[in-house]
Amino acid sequence: MGSIELISDRIRLRPISKNDLEPIHELHSFPETDEFNTLGIPKNINETKIILRNWLDLMRVKKVTNHIFTVESLEGNFIGLIALNQGSLKQQRGEVWYKILPKLWSKGYATEALNLVLDFGFEQVELHRITAGCAIDNLGSIRVLEKVGMIREGICREILPLRKGWTDNYEYAILRTERNIRPKQDTVQKDKDHVWHPFTQHHSAKDHLEIVKAEGVNLYDASGKKYIDANSSWWVNTHGHGHPHIGKAISEQFSKIDHIVFAGVTHPKAVELAERITNVLPDHLQKVFFSDNGSTAVEIAIKMVIQYFYNRDENKNRFLAMQGSYHGDTFGAMSLGQRGYFNKPFEQYFFDVDYIDFPAQENEEDILKHVKSLFESGDFAGVIVEPLVQGAAGMRMYSAKFLDQLTALAHQYGVLVIFDEVMTGFGRTGKLFSMDHCENKPDIVALSKGLTAGVMALGLTVASDKIYDAFLSENVGKALLHGHSFTANPIACAVACANLDLFEKRSTWENIDAIEGWNEDFAKELSTLDCVEKIRQQGTIIAFEVKTGEGNTYFSDVKTEAYDYFLEKGVLLRPLGNVIFVNPPYCITHQDHQKITREVLNFLKEGKN
Ligand SMILES: Cc1ncc(COP(=O)(O)O)c(C=O)c1O
Repeated sequence: MGSIELISDRIRLRPISKNDLEPIHELHSFPETDEFNTLGIPKNINETKIILRNWLDLMRVKKVTNHIFTVESLEGNFIGLIALNQGSLKQQRGEVWYKILPKLWSKGYATEALNLVLDFGFEQVELHRITAGCAIDNLGSIRVLEKVGMIREGICREILPLRKGWTDNYEYAILRTERNIRPKQDTVQKDKDHVWHPFTQHHSAKDHLEIVKAEGVNLYDASGKKYIDANSSWWVNTHGHGHPHIGKAISEQFSKIDHIVFAGVTHPKAVELAERITNVLPDHLQKVFFSDNGSTAVEIAIKMVIQYFYNRDENKNRFLAMQGSYHGDTFGAMSLGQRGYFNKPFEQYFFDVDYIDFPAQENEEDILKHVKSLFESGDFAGVIVEPLVQGAAGMRMYSAKFLDQLTALAHQYGVLVIFDEVMTGFGRTGKLFSMDHCENKPDIVALSKGLTAGVMALGLTVASDKIYDAFLSENVGKALLHGHSFTANPIACAVACANLDLFEKRSTWENIDAIEGWNEDFAKELSTLDCVEKIRQQGTIIAFEVKTGEGNTYFSDVKTEAYDYFLEKGVLLRPLGNVIFVNPPYCITHQDHQKITREVLNFLKEGKN
């Protein structure tokens, strides 16, 4: 760029050297409050200059080019300073740093200066960070700037307009180099035109966040902003996004068989998966039925139970489930789930189900007595539970002891037990399955979500030989006449096998243990806050309720307020009503976990109260 000047209608950017830093003296515009100082904003102008010099030195060592300009009016009046650190071409990174005289904050000069820099054509450089008001190597300062929303990282070549109520100095900019990325509005608008999203009232829904890339624990939106995937993408992801071992499994399998019918045909990966999954389940769970999601895995379990008794000419047709449970959105699964708001229109089509209260310690005995009296009727075919953790009800947790007693009671009365491990399976509760915490095991287990590391749609319903045998007959009508087009999709099966490979690695379990430990520390911090109650923890999941005076309700405002707050802070975390919970992919680092917990604590301390 040499000594080129950049000129617009109102301003001129004049290149200066490192030795011309005196103008910054006039630019020290931050309020010198104690709070900011303690958080690391340079204390005074000298410190700011030292930081800036160090930064420039550092950049030189790293062999990157930087350019500093004064921002001046065309008459030559000093307005501010803008610096561009052009990253090495290999890294394609760079930074823009600017400071505008406080009295001119509202005039839009910063925006204009940034535009001039961009328009000059730095698109070869990924300008990934805008810092306004302080040097970038001061991490404390950066934290403060993040807090007030002055920093965005990104790859979007676009300057956002000033936000309402913000002055020019508080604006932020996101710059992009990749010309081929379609403007965000394009996808979001087309989404609005054509897409019907799950669990969404489109009448009042905000624009959907467009995620264009996922890597490790991070998700990136169209502007390049990074979000930590704190809820593992609807509780499915186990080892992080884009895991190379999973990617390899997909491409290798695709080159062999992409998909085939699974009636009358089998294939190696389905068989490998069936064998490997039964090896890690209790010995009696030996027969694997494939489907393609959690709801279908549960639906098939229900059908297995009903037909088991039908095939044996036994008149048992009642089901027992737990208040607050969620087993999916197909009709059988809905019938067994919590009745109410979510499925009201369909309720008249559901079959009758008896529910037990959620087992908190004080009512466990009463519940078991009630269960016993129900089972004594001899009418019950099955009981279904989300073992140890009820996900959708707000990560509610109960004891393995209760579950053991419930299972034992069912078996005593010949009632088949279904564990819906769709959410709890694959390490989420600290062991491979929730049932591994229990003495007594189910007759059927439903698996999905983490089964494929959260990458492919696959469901498994694994049943005991006893159940399977009841379907063997000369009579074809006694078979389980159920199936889906994508049953045992070979690519999904290959991914599930690759997922199991990763669970065989010690490092996966070390990570899971580590998350459990970090959650314990987090729970201690949470317990000091008055606005928090019912902190609970199981394996990699930690959840708590924000006191609202309304109890645990899905429709609490906390959900939206917290969701927006966390998004702003670069964390994708979807609370369930007033329940905030964290269940990240297991590859998360301590640093990223701390970022999540810090933002949660900040929300509770500042955002919420
Ligand atoms: C315990 C449980 N069962 C079943 C389901 C349904 O799974 P899917 O969304 O894959 O149909 C879910 C989904 O959250 C779940 O948490």
